[in-house]
Amino acid sequence: MEKIAILTSGGDAPGMNAVIRSVVRTAIYEGAEIYGVEGGYEGLIDGKLTRLYESSVADIIQRGGTILGTSRSTRFKTDEGFKKAIQVLEVFGIKKVIVAGGDGSLRGALKLSQAGIDVVGIPLSIDNDLGYTDYTIGFFTAVETATEAISRIRDTTEAHGRANIVEVMGRNCGDIALYSGLAGGAESIIVPERKDDIEEIIKKAIVTRNRGKKYHIIVMAEGAGDTNEFAKEFEKLTGIDTKVTVLGYIQRGGSPNIVDRMLGSTIGNKAVTEVLKENSSFAIGYTNGKVKVFDLEEALSIDKVFNDEINEVVKAISI
Ligand code: ADP
Ligand code: F6P
Repeated sequence: MEKIAILTSGGDAPGMNAVIRSVVRTAIYEGAEIYGVEGGYEGLIDGKLTRLYESSVADIIQRGGTILGTSRSTRFKTDEGFKKAIQVLEVFGIKKVIVAGGDGSLRGALKLSQAGIDVVGIPLSIDNDLGYTDYTIGFFTAVETATEAISRIRDTTEAHGRANIVEVMGRNCGDIALYSGLAGGAESIIVPERKDDIEEIIKKAIVTRNRGKKYHIIVMAEGAGDTNEFAKEFEKLTGIDTKVTVLGYIQRGGSPNIVDRMLGSTIGNKAVTEVLKENSSFAIGYTNGKVKVFDLEEALSIDKVFNDEINEVVKAISI
């Protein structure tokens, strides 16, 4: 019987449990044995593998976090740690591994595949920073959480006639800021991909304030710079009382929305059927409305492209 291991790695994201559930149940449906690795690559190095069954993943589709646990593993990046991970797979007789995580985790998956393991990467991160897929699983739930928070911040900012700089996550990617800024009706967004817009943003706040605008919400991606420094500069140049709200880890937690449950379930299913079909390594993505299979190395060589069309919409309709 074919044996498959699944691990979740890197920053957790809403939808990880939906992926685990789908992978485990599809594997059993297809007649394979499925093992869960506890704690990402760290757990792989330490041999923390347990056989999973249909009932092991009951009642989790709606839960945030990951029942398997996750990690950022410096050991996995060392020769010693990596060799240990390969040895563990040999001991268990496992030749096929499904890695669910972000950009870093999938690069780790590529390394495993270069060592002769058949690996399938599942894009799971709130950041939406992978170029080969239109969306990573977890992104839309994080955007929803951020948008809800922006709406609450709007109330108090309006009441005091202030400005609020709302810092969102995303590492080097501005997508959470772009989407939540648009959906939350922010006046401006600041993203790492288009930092040149900063002077224009301050000028816009002065012009709109002079025109009678009562309060200002600006969504800034963490990768675009120091939010507190920007707030100081903004206050100095505009004279508007300016606060900062760092949304932080609330963006990672919570029940996955319908999109992330759907993506998690369909992509998880595809990961298993593909890895059982062929002795090769893949990344599963979602492009143009369809679940698609990519060669793992090729997928990771595709650069993420910033969505300037949405950015132009923000500029046109946010005042
Ligand atoms: P994410 O997957 O959310 O982007 P990280 O970038 O922290 O999170 O990556 C998760 C883990 O994947 C790292 O802690 C490391 O063990 C492994 N990893 C990241 N990049 C590489 C790489 N280039 N080669 C091998 N392993 C890597
Ligand atoms: O990759 C997901 C993410 O939440 C990023 O948006 C953020 O920069 C990072 O993880 C935070 O990582 P940690 O949980 O290690 O603090």
